[in-house]
Amino acid sequence: MPPPLATRAPAKINLTLHVLGRRADGYHELESLVAFAGTGDDLRLEPGPRLALRASGPTAALAGSDVDNLVLKAARLLADRVDGLQIGIFHLTKRLPVAAGIGGGSSDAAAALRLLARLNELPLSHPALREAARLTGADVPVCLEPRARMMRGAGEALGAPLNLPRLFAVLVNPRVPVETPAVFKALGLRPGQALAGAEHQSVERSALIDTLNAARNDLESPALRIQPLIGEALGLLRQTRGCRLARMSGSGATVFGLYDDCEAAAAAAKAVRRARPDWWVKATSLR
Ligand code: C5P
Repeated sequence: MPPPLATRAPAKINLTLHVLGRRADGYHELESLVAFAGTGDDLRLEPGPRLALRASGPTAALAGSDVDNLVLKAARLLADRVDGLQIGIFHLTKRLPVAAGIGGGSSDAAAALRLLARLNELPLSHPALREAARLTGADVPVCLEPRARMMRGAGEALGAPLNLPRLFAVLVNPRVPVETPAVFKALGLRPGQALAGAEHQSVERSALIDTLNAARNDLESPALRIQPLIGEALGLLRQTRGCRLARMSGSGATVFGLYDDCEAAAAAAKAVRRARPDWWVKATSLR
């Protein structure tokens, strides 16, 4: 029996995100340690003669045409590069908040490429897949094989997978979309300008959370200026018992807290939900 054409599109978390400068093409040169959460969207592919997307789930209505665009954009980019590519209808169960800094749309697009690869018996290392991922969006290549690794360049240069210890986390999104280009723009770098003090962070140390605490997310302060609720979310996480680190992911607005065990993360999620019942709050693990 062929394997079922279904896959999880996990949330992508930037444990660190250092902006090294702005390239002449306007994109920012980054260095980011990326991990993936246990929680995510789900995608299934029903093989057929035409390409389409059906979305359901708690955040499907919010996702609208953006998600359509990324899943279908990735599929079309691959179809343009592979003769006779078998396609079909994608069924997306959307749970992640959108425009949230956790790569929901990028992970959905990468999941679509994984399913098309499986259907067409293409290895994930196939150049057409890599190219389709890169052209779909800066965060799509890292989501193609969702394993913790360093991401560099504008997202196209990937390090080898890292065996991170399992981290217990709480993800908090104040249900306000934040547009990535606006956050990068608020950094205020001119094309070609390097950011002073940007340095490499080693991840090869045993005390991972201590290492992470010595690093940062350079997009946090510009995002906070655009959306002050991010500061409130960070403050709430920092007040929870056992919170070892609280930081924003990507360009926000989702923030994450790290805990030593799953019980502490569950209790923290409960406390944040009590304070802000209207927010999206999820206890999960990262690796
Ligand atoms: O590639 P993607 O469409 O996801 O990027 C969205 C926007 O985010 C870009 O148009 C750019 O303004 C900004 N960006 C950036 N540097 C990156 C990634 C994204 O400036 N490394």
